[in-house]
Amino acid sequence: MQLKERVDFLTAVLDSLNEGIVVVDSQGIVTFINKVYRDFLKGDLEDFVGKPVTEVLENTRLPIVCQTGEPELSVVQKVRGRNILGHRLPIRKNGKVIGAVGELVFQRSEEIKALVNQVNALEGRVHYYERQLHDVFRSRFTFADIYGHSDAITQVKRLALKAARGDSTVLIMGESGVGKEVFAHAIHSMSPRAGKPFIKVNCAAIPEQLLESEMFGYEEGGFTGAKKGGKPGKFELANHGTIFLDEIGDMSLGMQAKLLRVLQEREMERVGGVKPIQLDIRVIAATNKDLESMVKAKLFRQDLWYRLNVFPIVIPPLRDRREDIPEIAESLLKELCDELRLPLCSLSKGALDVLMSYSWPGNIRELRNALERAVNICEGKEIRAEHFTTAIRNSVKVAAQDSCQFHTLKKSIGETEAELIKTALEASGYNKTKAAKALGIHRCTLYAKIKKYSLENYK
Ligand SMILES: Nc1ncnc2c1ncn2[C@@H]1O[C@H](COP(=O)(O)OP(=O)(O)OP(=O)(O)O)[C@@H](O)[C@H]1O
Ligand SMILES: [Mg+2]
Repeated sequence: MQLKERVDFLTAVLDSLNEGIVVVDSQGIVTFINKVYRDFLKGDLEDFVGKPVTEVLENTRLPIVCQTGEPELSVVQKVRGRNILGHRLPIRKNGKVIGAVGELVFQRSEEIKALVNQVNALEGRVHYYERQLHDVFRSRFTFADIYGHSDAITQVKRLALKAARGDSTVLIMGESGVGKEVFAHAIHSMSPRAGKPFIKVNCAAIPEQLLESEMFGYEEGGFTGAKKGGKPGKFELANHGTIFLDEIGDMSLGMQAKLLRVLQEREMERVGGVKPIQLDIRVIAATNKDLESMVKAKLFRQDLWYRLNVFPIVIPPLRDRREDIPEIAESLLKELCDELRLPLCSLSKGALDVLMSYSWPGNIRELRNALERAVNICEGKEIRAEHFTTAIRNSVKVAAQDSCQFHTLKKSIGETEAELIKTALEASGYNKTKAAKALGIHRCTLYAKIKKYSLENYK
């Protein structure tokens, strides 16, 4: 009784499957066929059981599987004009093949086909986004992209190359537009982590309330509105690569404390998460703020400053390395003309004079913008001084005026001096010793000045 119950139970299980199941013995005689398969073939048990499978099923290979003992998985079998996906498996007992089972997934073959197509399409999209992500997360600049050969910039490049070889935290400082971000990219791309992600966080651009979840990510339900499945933060994305904390001087004291913890422990949790995540990251921070005075003013945590200031790199402003201006301007001009698909422009002597005398408070970014404007408004192939804004152009006039004023001052000092000497000579009755005394200078000096102003014959 028990055995019958078990057989009935197993039969019920097999009949309730969505797949068609047919079982043959080692001779290829059908011993069982489930309900779905029977319904599909429009027959009853007696129509199949006890008959050679080759007589009741088209294109069957079950007898072959019995002979070879080799399973045939995911094969397509044509049954009643339909291509149906199936598997054929040998049944073994004590190592001997005692039969075979055929499984047809015919009921859902259309769905499967659609699914396979969908998977293929999705795979293609994944590849596409992976490539895109790689482009986004890749560092975009190398040392070759850093223009300039002045001593000042060469020294900085050398230092940055040293930083790249190590794994220490780098703090890049310098005025706005000097190339801090360019350097950060170059350091990553020359470091052993070059093939790994380079993730930038702009600490100034992200609103305070969002910064934490941006940096550390969040777990599902970490806060109201948290996305399903949670989201990794920038630190997690940067794992094994480099995280670039830009505008670090603009981070609130609260976030500074959180950042300090991550830098100290190299471990973090997502917002609303409990599982700590181990981090293997290289940190590059940058700022145009004077962090040291911010520390003094208690606007920046001293302990964080020590953590960041491991390998400081200071990039000098453009006005302190004017000799770089011609090279940088020409290289940028080439870049710009390429980008804008314009024939290559050159700089006139006057234009270069203007660029050389301007103070560039916005540094290379400002220079690039000035050149872009000039390229757009100049009609020929030569950029002239008039293609720059008056603010930039006036720098030459100011410089010229400065030297002109200096000239006048020098001239008037000379004129006054000559007049005084003449008066002293007259008053002393042309006695040079007395005149020198009256003027409070040495006699030799008076002789020299008389010669200078050609007063030898003055009477
Ligand atoms: N030495 C350089 N050679 C070539 N291009 C440079 C160089 N330095 C800066 N640039 C260019 O100048 C612009 C500003 O550079 P970057 O964004 O790195 O400056 P920054 O120091 O990060 O400025 P900010 O403090 O305003 O963020 C960019 O277009 C960059 O490509
Ligand atoms: Mg920057």
